[in-house]
Amino acid sequence: MCGIVGYVGPRGSQEVLLGGLGRLEYRGYDSAGVAIISDELETRKRAGKLQTLRDELVANPLDDGHTGIGHTRWATHGAPNDVNAHPHLGDNGKLALIHNGIIENFAEIKAELVADGVEFVSETDSEVAAHLVGREYRRTGNLTEAMKASVARFDGAFTLLIVHEESPGVVVGARRNSPLVIGLGKGENFLGSDVAAFVEYTSDALAIGQDQIVTITPDSVSVIDFDGNAVTPEPFTVTWDASAADKGGWSSFMAKEISEEPAAVADTLRGRVKDGVVEIPGFEPADFADVDRIIVVACGTAAYAGLVGKYAIEKWARIPVDVELSHEFRYREPVISDRTLIVSVSQSGETMDTLMAVKYAREIGARTLSICNTQGATIPRESDAVIYTHAGPEVAVASTKAFVAQITALYLLGIAIAQANGKGDARILSAAVHDLEAAPALLDTVLRHGEHIRTLAKWMADTQAVLILGRHVGFPIALEGALKLKELAYIHAEGFAAGELKHGPIALIEPGQVVFVIVPSPRDPNSLHSKVVNNIQEIRARGARVIAIAEQGDAAVLPYADEVIPIPLASSFIEPILAVVPLHMFAMELAAAKGLDVDQPRNLAKSVTVE
Ligand code: M6R
Repeated sequence: MCGIVGYVGPRGSQEVLLGGLGRLEYRGYDSAGVAIISDELETRKRAGKLQTLRDELVANPLDDGHTGIGHTRWATHGAPNDVNAHPHLGDNGKLALIHNGIIENFAEIKAELVADGVEFVSETDSEVAAHLVGREYRRTGNLTEAMKASVARFDGAFTLLIVHEESPGVVVGARRNSPLVIGLGKGENFLGSDVAAFVEYTSDALAIGQDQIVTITPDSVSVIDFDGNAVTPEPFTVTWDASAADKGGWSSFMAKEISEEPAAVADTLRGRVKDGVVEIPGFEPADFADVDRIIVVACGTAAYAGLVGKYAIEKWARIPVDVELSHEFRYREPVISDRTLIVSVSQSGETMDTLMAVKYAREIGARTLSICNTQGATIPRESDAVIYTHAGPEVAVASTKAFVAQITALYLLGIAIAQANGKGDARILSAAVHDLEAAPALLDTVLRHGEHIRTLAKWMADTQAVLILGRHVGFPIALEGALKLKELAYIHAEGFAAGELKHGPIALIEPGQVVFVIVPSPRDPNSLHSKVVNNIQEIRARGARVIAIAEQGDAAVLPYADEVIPIPLASSFIEPILAVVPLHMFAMELAAAKGLDVDQPRNLAKSVTVE
C-alpha cells in the first residue's frame, strides 16, 4: 500500500519519479505526488490516478532538479483528496516527506506539535511525521539525524522518505515493517518500495533491514540502524528487466499475466528437478525432514494456493497441514512445537498480516519458510528459509500467475519433504514430478479458450451473482474464482465445496442462477466425478445455468451443462492449475464487458502493508 520512489543523480528527477510511480501504481492509486529540489523545493500532488498528476505537471510544470521523491497513495488516514495526497511538508515548506504505513501514535505527537504552534493542513498521520522531522532538522541541522530522532518516537509501520531544500543531493529513508530497497547506479542512486521503482535504470539492489535508516547521495549509500550503528545491507540482483513490467501490447496487465501462467509454472520449476528428485538451490529438505505439522499462513489468493497445497502435501509427505488466514493465526494462541513448520505464502512478500504471523510464529518457537515472488521482500528476510516463485513481476492488482506459481512451489515443497522424510511412496512422488513438468504445455492449451470465455462474459455482463462449485483440490479453485469475480467484476460470487451444497447453499439456486462447476476427471480414483455430476443434475433440476469446467471428452457432463469449458487430461493435482485459468479469464472478461478497470479495481491495493 502506497508506492514510494526516491532519486539522486544527474538525470531529471521528474522522469525518473513518474516512471517509477507508474510501475508502483499497483500499490495504490488514490492520489499521487512528487517533490523535487531545484533551486528550491517544489511539490505537485493530485487526487486520482497517476495520470492526473501527469496532467497537472503539464498544466503547472515545476523546475526539474536532480533530487526528488514521489508517492502513489492507498488512503488510510484521510480521504483521497489533493490535500491528503503526499508529499507532506515540514520546516516551513522546506522539507518534504512521503510515507507508506500507519503511524499509530500520531495523535499524541500531533497534540504536542500543535501546542508548539504547528498548523496542520491535512487529516493524515503522515503530516505529523513531516512536521516532527522538520523540527528535528532545525534542531540537529542534519537530515539523517533528524530522521533518527523522529523514528524513535513513532509506533506502527512505516517507510518514510525525506528531502530538504537545504540538502540538495540527499534523500534519507527509514523503514519499520514496510518495504524499502536501494537501487545502486553509477553516479546516481534510487530508493523504492520495490525494485520496480528503478529497474529501468539498474538491476543492482540492496535490501534494507528492519528498523534501519538509509542516506543516499549520487555517490554514496550509508545505512544505520535506529540506534545509529552502521549496517552493511545485503546485495541482490534483480532478475527481470523493465520490459517484464510493461504491458507489452496486451490490453491490460492482467491479460498479459494470465497469458504468462504457463511460464510462471515452468520458471518456478526450472532447475529445481534433477533426475526426478526435487533440489531447490538454497533450500535443504533434510532440515525439514523431522517436521510433524505444517501450518500455511497467507491471505486472499495466496491462502487458496495454500489450501491446494494442503491436499498435495498431506498426500505426498503424510504430514498434517492446516491453512490459516494470517490475521487469524496470530490472535488465537496456536499450539505449535519446534517441529511445526510455518509456511508463509505471499506474492509481494510484504503483506503485513502475513509478516506479523511469521514474526509471531518465530517468537513462539516455530520454524518458518517463505514462499514468495519478490526478491528483497521483508517476509523471506524474516523467515528461516525461502522458496521463491519465479512468476516475474505481477502488476495487475488481482493475482493470477503468482497463484499457479505458488501452487507449484507448494508442490515442490511437498515432494521435497516427502523425499526427505521417507514417508512418501516413491512411485507416486516420481509421477508427481513428471506431471508437474508436463503442466506448462497443458496450460498453454487452456489459454486457447479465450474467445469462448469472452463471448460467455459478454452474454453474462448483467449477471449479479455467480456460484462456483468444486470438490477436493477443485474447492480452493472455486474460492479463488469467486474472489476474482468480487475483486474485478464487483458481483456477489461464492465458492462452495460441492459436497456442501445440500447442507445449505442449494437454497440459493433459482431459475437462471449461473453456477460454474469444476468437474473432477472421470478417471478420478476417489469417484468424485460421479458425485459432482450428481450435483450438477441437482442444480439443473432447480433451474441453474451450468457452466462446467470439465476434462476434454467428459461425455457424462455434456447432457447437463449449458456450456462446457474443456481442460486437457491431467492428474488430479494438476487439474486445479488448469481449471483456475478459465476462471481468471472469465473474471477479467466480465469486468471488461462491464467497462471496469481490470488492472486497478476500486478500493484495492496489491500489496496490503497495513493491518
Ligand atoms: O502479496 P500477497 O500474496 O501476500 O497478497 C495476499 C492477498 O492480499 C492477495 O492475494 C489478494 O487477495 C489479491 N488481491 C487477490 O487477487
